[in-house]
Amino acid sequence: MRVLSVLLVALSVAGSAYSQCSVNDATPAQIDSTYGPTTGGNALTFNDNLGSNIQIANNYDFVSNGVVQLNGGNNLVLTGTLNPVNSSLTDKFSLRAAFVKSGAPSDVKQELNSNAYKANGGPVDPSTWSFYQIIPEKTKMVSLTNPNAVVTMSENPSTALQLGVGANGKNIQNGASGWFQFQATDGTNTAQSNPGGMEVVDININLGCSSTFDCQSNTYSISKASIDSTLTDTQGAQALYVDQVSSVFNNQQKFDTSAGTVNTISIDQTTGNLHLTSGFTSLGDQTTVQCDLRFNPALPNADYMAKLELKNSAYVSGGGSIDPNTWAYYTVNASGSSCTRNDGTAITITGDHDNMYLQWGKGANGKNGNFGLSVWLNYVDAALTNPFFDINVDTVCDNNPSTSMFYLNFTISSPKNFTTIINTLSSLNITQNSTSDNYTLTYIQQSNITSLNPISPSQTSLHNNTSTSIPSLSSSKTSSASSQNNISSSSQHNISSSSSSSKDLPETSPPTAPPATCPPGCIPAIPVVNTTETPAAGNSASNIEMSKLVVAILSLFVLAFFH
Ligand SMILES: *[C@@H]1O[C@H](CO)[C@@H](O)[C@H](O)[C@H]1NC(C)=O
Ligand SMILES: *[C@@H]1O[C@H](CO)[C@@H](O)[C@H](O)[C@H]1NC(C)=O
Ligand SMILES: *[C@@H]1O[C@H](CO)[C@@H](O)[C@H](O)[C@H]1NC(C)=O
Ligand SMILES: *[C@@H]1O[C@H](CO)[C@@H](O)[C@H](O)[C@H]1NC(C)=O
Ligand SMILES: *[C@@H]1O[C@H](CO)[C@@H](O)[C@H](O)[C@H]1NC(C)=O
Ligand SMILES: *[C@@H]1O[C@H](CO)[C@@H](O)[C@H](O)[C@H]1NC(C)=O
Ligand SMILES: *[C@@H]1O[C@H](CO)[C@@H](O)[C@H](O)[C@H]1NC(C)=O
Ligand SMILES: *[C@@H]1O[C@H](CO)[C@@H](O)[C@H](O)[C@H]1NC(C)=O
Ligand SMILES: *[C@@H]1O[C@H](CO)[C@@H](O)[C@H](O)[C@H]1NC(C)=O
Ligand SMILES: *[C@@H]1O[C@H](CO)[C@@H](O)[C@H](O)[C@H]1NC(C)=O
Ligand SMILES: *[C@@H]1O[C@H](CO)[C@@H](O)[C@H](O)[C@H]1NC(C)=O
Ligand SMILES: *[C@@H]1O[C@H](CO)[C@@H](O)[C@H](O)[C@H]1NC(C)=O
Repeated sequence: MRVLSVLLVALSVAGSAYSQCSVNDATPAQIDSTYGPTTGGNALTFNDNLGSNIQIANNYDFVSNGVVQLNGGNNLVLTGTLNPVNSSLTDKFSLRAAFVKSGAPSDVKQELNSNAYKANGGPVDPSTWSFYQIIPEKTKMVSLTNPNAVVTMSENPSTALQLGVGANGKNIQNGASGWFQFQATDGTNTAQSNPGGMEVVDININLGCSSTFDCQSNTYSISKASIDSTLTDTQGAQALYVDQVSSVFNNQQKFDTSAGTVNTISIDQTTGNLHLTSGFTSLGDQTTVQCDLRFNPALPNADYMAKLELKNSAYVSGGGSIDPNTWAYYTVNASGSSCTRNDGTAITITGDHDNMYLQWGKGANGKNGNFGLSVWLNYVDAALTNPFFDINVDTVCDNNPSTSMFYLNFTISSPKNFTTIINTLSSLNITQNSTSDNYTLTYIQQSNITSLNPISPSQTSLHNNTSTSIPSLSSSKTSSASSQNNISSSSQHNISSSSSSSKDLPETSPPTAPPATCPPGCIPAIPVVNTTETPAAGNSASNIEMSKLVVAILSLFVLAFFH
């Protein structure tokens, strides 16, 4: 069903054969019994061009799958861990192949039966395909076990990587195929294409949605990545970790995502850009930080590396199932990113830490094997050398992000003491000392509301933009929660948000993978950065901040009406 709908979308969009996912999974293009040729079916094949001396297999499929990211349509990176089809060979290879968009080559390969093509009444229209030329210096296959076994690839004149419905040459699904000259060595023997000859290595893949980067809303809620002790020896989970004790972070090092804020990542459908919005609350005191971070997909020629924080045995290279070649990588847009502490202190982001890009995928959060992301960002603290903070979170597709906006204007009357109210709410510690009596709560619900504890979806349906009657804060249940306080609501409204483009057809997006320049044996060689997770001395809070207040009021709201 899924494949069919993707196909229909692909077919119905003129000139575009992109699937519906922001990041595409690549799988071997299997032979279609009606339209396909008689040979092939693997993701990568040397077509028996290697000779018999070399210890490199003829055919490869992916360990799990590969990943293809298209950056605004102009750049394409294919990564995957390749597994030899011949089971008597065991050497896996890390593949990274980088491409830039080009015009149609002189030889557009049409390998399907002729009745597959539109000219003969078939479903495949090569005029809708896109074409990409390989970037040889950023394309490489490296053995995971023998760092001297390497295959490089270069352009085969007259052809290009062709992408679209039926472009894989094996079936009529969305996919890609390409023919490349190669130079291969197993460390002892070598084999290579003859320039201008037909000895090539072929890539034939299907592209489409899968269980990983498949989120039609392009919006994911984020939450602290808990520790899976079978995969890591690291102790202590937090959503945000500050590497050194920093006054910029109010001397706090460990933060969870805040309750009561919208904690999401969203993917821009046309550029592939990633936008992370989240509140973070210190595990030690009342400090909160609101972050608004923007990232761009890694470019095909970028040098960056994965950060492998789990045990070596967790990764494919160490016998595990986590495959960094299936992750997506993004570089921070420093000028478009910032965090703000509750007292107004601005935290200036300066760039990616040590060339480690944001990594997103299964096991990418560095704490467990869930689908999640992690990122290391440099920021400014004049008192510290090379300060940075980490974010490690699970990401869960929010299938039904709301587009409603909620307004709640309210006034607090004396005595301004939230402690009593807050102590009745689960897991919130708030001290109150505000200089202003009046607050406006503007709450844009972008995320699955279950992430906003303790509000549940059934409760929030009361507050959508078609509901005009919001219960008053002065209900009897409020007074029981605020026996020493007086909170009167001045006005409560909700309005609709204009930003609701998430149902439009998404474009496929950004690139991934370990750097092509990393040494042979690329994945095992990637340095693991040790985080020293010493808890900071607690620092007592003095001022209540707006986001805490938001939590308090939201919570009070819930307490008042839904208990
Ligand atoms: C599989 O690899 C082994 C060892 O290189 C080789 O002897 C055998 O012929 C290969 N089988 C096929 C089907 O290629
Ligand atoms: C960075 O973010 C700013 C603010 O959103 C935006 O104006 C700018 O275009 C972004 N830069 C890139 C390269 O995306
Ligand atoms: C929200 O998340 C919860 C828990 O993850 C899930 O059960 C529920 O189906 C989600 N709701 C929507 C509308 O996606
Ligand atoms: C809520 O307060 C904000 C800021 O004071 C104001 O701009 C807005 O009009 C108010 N909304 C309502 C419905 O009173
Ligand atoms: C607020 O109330 C709590 C308990 O009700 C009390 O312990 C605390 O001293 C009060 N704080 C202020 C600033 O009045
Ligand atoms: C709230 O404060 C009490 C006393 O300071 C502390 O024991 C408790 O752990 C705090 N709870 C949270 C969620 O911070
Ligand atoms: C709070 O709102 C009330 C009623 O609108 C107004 O009289 C009062 O001056 C406001 N207080 C502050 C500090 O803005
Ligand atoms: C909006 O709220 C009203 C009243 O609670 C409810 O009947 C309606 O189904 C809700 N609509 C949506 C789209 O949630
Ligand atoms: C709350 O305020 C109302 C009117 O402003 C007053 O009548 C009532 O006594 C106050 N309650 C408390 C607990 O202070
Ligand atoms: C509610 O929001 C939706 C989506 O933004 C909009 O189409 C609809 O007109 C709004 N309804 C009302 C009553 O404002
Ligand atoms: C990481 O820390 C552990 C424990 O302190 C240490 O054994 C290991 O050598 C460190 N690894 C690196 C790469 O520094
Ligand atoms: C709160 O404000 C009162 C009066 O303005 C002041 O005496 C008290 O020290 C403040 N408390 C804190 C924790 O800042």
